[in-house]
Amino acid sequence: MSKRAGGSKGGGKSGSQKSGSKKSGQKTSGQKTTGPGGGDRQMHVRLKTARRHTASSQRWLQRQLNDPYVAAAKREGFRSRAAYKLAEIDDKHRLLKPGSRVVDLGAAPGGWSQIAAERTQAVAGKGQVVAIDINPMEPLHGVEVVHLDFTAEGAEDRLKALLRGGGADVVLSDMAAPTTGHTRTDHIRIMALAEAAAYFACDVLAPGGAFLSKVLQGGTERELLDLLKRSFATVRHLKPPASRSDSAELYVLATGFRGK
Ligand SMILES: C[S@@+](CC[C@H](N)C(=O)[O-])C[C@H]1O[C@@H](n2cnc3c(N)ncnc32)[C@H](O)[C@@H]1O
Repeated sequence: MSKRAGGSKGGGKSGSQKSGSKKSGQKTSGQKTTGPGGGDRQMHVRLKTARRHTASSQRWLQRQLNDPYVAAAKREGFRSRAAYKLAEIDDKHRLLKPGSRVVDLGAAPGGWSQIAAERTQAVAGKGQVVAIDINPMEPLHGVEVVHLDFTAEGAEDRLKALLRGGGADVVLSDMAAPTTGHTRTDHIRIMALAEAAAYFACDVLAPGGAFLSKVLQGGTERELLDLLKRSFATVRHLKPPASRSDSAELYVLATGFRGK
C-alpha cells in the first residue's frame, strides 16, 4: 500500500510489505517475526541509548520499536497504530460503508479518522467524518475536526450541527483520559467517557446505526450495558488482534440501533 501523503488519505488494511529498515540508535538481532497482515519484518530492536531513559520509558520505547503495528503504521502513513484496530473490526463487522456519516470521539492523532474517511468515501464527498478531541489534531482531508472536550457544555450540539441531517450512522469512541497510574481511578475515568459516548450515540444515531467504544476488561459496566442492550439489536465485546494482549482494553460494539 502506498504511503499516505501528509496523512491526508486514509484507510487500508494491514500491510504485507517487507520492512526492517534500521534507524540510528537501534540494533537488530535478526530474529524474524510476523507483522500485521502476515508481513515479515526483522526483529528484535534493542535500545542503544538505554542509559538515557528511565526504566518505564525504556520499556515503552523497546515495545514501540518491536511492535509490527507501529512499523506498519509508519510505512503505510497512518497517524497511529490504533488505525489497525478499527480496520480489523470493520473488516469483520462492516460498519463503515460508502456514504456513512461517522462521528469519531477522541480522534487524535487521527488513525481512526483516516480509516473512516477512506471507507465512507468522505474525501470524495460521499460519506462524512466529524472528529473531536480535547487535544489539537492536524487537519485531515475529508474530516471535519473539532478541538474541544467532548464532555464540555455545548460539545454535543456542535457535533450535531456539523452532521448532515443532524444525525449519524456510526459513532466511534476511542476516548481515553491520560492514565494516573491508579487502576481504579483510570477505570472510572475511561468508563465515564464510554458512557457519555453511548448516551450521545443514542441521541444522534439514525435507526440501524452502530456504536463502537473503547471499554476496559471486566466488560462494560452494568448501567452502560443495560442502555446498549435496550437501544441496540446486538451488543458484543471485541478484542481486535491489534489491541495489545497485555492491555486491559476491550471494545464494545452495538449494532442495529432501534431509534429514539
Ligand atoms: C487512544 S487516543 C485515540 C487514538 C485515535 N483513535 C487514533 O486512531 O489516532 C485517545 C484520545 O482521546 C482523547 N480524549 C480523552 N478525553 C477526551 C475528552 N473528554 N474529549 C475529547 N477527547 C478526549 C485524548 O486526547 C486522545 O487523543
